[in-house]
Amino acid sequence: MKSLLGLKYLTSDEIREFLDRAKAILEDISEGKKIAGSLEGLSVLNLFLENSTRTRVSFELAEKTLGMNAVNFSEEGSSFGKGESLLDTVKNLEAMKFDFYVVRHPSPGVPGLISRVTGKSVINAGDGACEHPTQALLDMLTLENKFKKLNGLRVCIVGDISHSRVAMSNIFGLQKMGALVSVCGPVPFIPRDIEALGVKVCHNIDEAISENQAINILRVQLERDAGRLLPSLNEYNKYYGINMKRFESNPRLMILHPGPMNINVEIDYESSVAKNSLIFSQVTAGLAVRIAAFQLLAKEKA
Ligand code: CP
Repeated sequence: MKSLLGLKYLTSDEIREFLDRAKAILEDISEGKKIAGSLEGLSVLNLFLENSTRTRVSFELAEKTLGMNAVNFSEEGSSFGKGESLLDTVKNLEAMKFDFYVVRHPSPGVPGLISRVTGKSVINAGDGACEHPTQALLDMLTLENKFKKLNGLRVCIVGDISHSRVAMSNIFGLQKMGALVSVCGPVPFIPRDIEALGVKVCHNIDEAISENQAINILRVQLERDAGRLLPSLNEYNKYYGINMKRFESNPRLMILHPGPMNINVEIDYESSVAKNSLIFSQVTAGLAVRIAAFQLLAKEKA
């Protein structure tokens, strides 16, 4: 495992290795302990060609925590503005001999392309609607910490599945770890062939809330024009939005959201900060997962 391109390509044993290491790191973070296993001397290029807050910042913090030489690249201010292609850009950056690339890109497959072009370790930080493996690992870590096991856990992914790399990585990862995964949303948000991946489809949010132990609420991806698939955002909120009345109808339900949230579209503010919301635990778990990812991939390189 030289690169982390998607959970589709990992075995359950490999996912277990990520989760166990990240869990130990998360405990150290929570106790304010110094993180062992420095990667001083290794360099990393953060190639973010699409907006990000949580993923970008937590990767940067993970890199600094591990003592790596981190360089940030963004489209703004680069020679993309002079018409240089992605491939030429990557070849030039590769000539500087980075050890790792962290790549976010709106097109599916770009992290894999960069891994083939450079021959170096690439971590997919989200590629189009394809995969977001570190997000799914942090979601699984958060769930496992709460419920103690993933095997047999009933998890529903709610919302804009058709545009969601988070949904794909969660479906692959959770199922490999034995969870029972379903998806819920209006017809235009549910890919036609999703059942072939082994997930149950539900169109009624109240049913999803009563039948599951956790729901992972996805953002309506307005920047990918997802709003155009719906009669209106108000209507989406009425039929699928999470509010306290719905949330409290199952007192044992835990909610997750990968962020960023559209408040009062897929979730209201009160629910996002409620006792049974794991949303900010997810963000802390993200730091641990990204530290673990560098350490495990560096071990493979050694
Ligand atoms: N969850 C997630 O990927 O958030 P960002 O887009 O802010 O990184």
